[in-house]
Amino acid sequence: MIRIFALSDIHVDFNENELWIDNLSDYEYRQDILLLAGDICHNMDRLQSTLLKLRSKFIKLFFVPGNHDLWVRGESWNDSIEKFNHIQNFCRDNQISIHPEKTGEYWIVPLLSWYTQPFEGEDTLYFHKPGEDPGNRMWSDNYFVKWPNSAQPFIPSKYFFTCNEVHLNDCISSPVISMSHFIPRKEMMFSQYPPVFDPEKIRKFDRNPQFNFSRVAGSELIDSQIRKCGSQLHVYGHQHINRDRVVDGIRYVAHCLGYPAERRRGLLQGIDQGLKKIAQTSR
Ligand SMILES: [Fe+2]
Ligand SMILES: [Fe+2]
Repeated sequence: MIRIFALSDIHVDFNENELWIDNLSDYEYRQDILLLAGDICHNMDRLQSTLLKLRSKFIKLFFVPGNHDLWVRGESWNDSIEKFNHIQNFCRDNQISIHPEKTGEYWIVPLLSWYTQPFEGEDTLYFHKPGEDPGNRMWSDNYFVKWPNSAQPFIPSKYFFTCNEVHLNDCISSPVISMSHFIPRKEMMFSQYPPVFDPEKIRKFDRNPQFNFSRVAGSELIDSQIRKCGSQLHVYGHQHINRDRVVDGIRYVAHCLGYPAERRRGLLQGIDQGLKKIAQTSR
């Protein structure tokens, strides 16, 4: 049996996280598949060495980049798309899968993605939060992600959506497991849906009361492709909140390693048990 495991947001620029990855057995997963749903590290050398390390521990590694992976902080890339193309080429040259592939009985479908901000389209996951900063100035992507100059406004969620389309025309058949870094539906973001924002609770418990994550969480475009390819199980990351839910007949799983401080605060449910097994398949 081949086991299929999920993980995301490993952020190996934290030494503690790099050690967590190093400590994954070199033998236990040799017949298994890992779905790694983005946010390895902004540093390209570390990103590449981590991909190779994980590739060597598993029989197959599927990967989609997250926002941190496309930061151009202190590096020589002209923009984040140039960096993305370099990552794609690196994956292709090193047998790391970033496009749909059949493994055992499953089709695994990596979906490239980005978030749709409220001013970029109807497919945004935005919800108004009382007292929010409309500029979301504490969001680091505003400073470290750089899109190409173009005559038309560049909308990254639509760009990556279009990149996926050509691969979704492959003859993908059931059963399908899909994956994206960003969140595919509004329901995933909150403990209850629709959310209730209590200004008193925000004042007392919210560490960043002006930050509204829903502005930069994901896009409904992702869910349209999840459903188009007939996925039954979708792995995502980005929020650093681990969930396992069925919505409209599809199971959505987030299993993030997250930041060391988040783990210490007990915010990443289940990560102390290691990787999350989401399925298994015969060869
Ligand atoms: Fe992350
Ligand atoms: Fe992220």
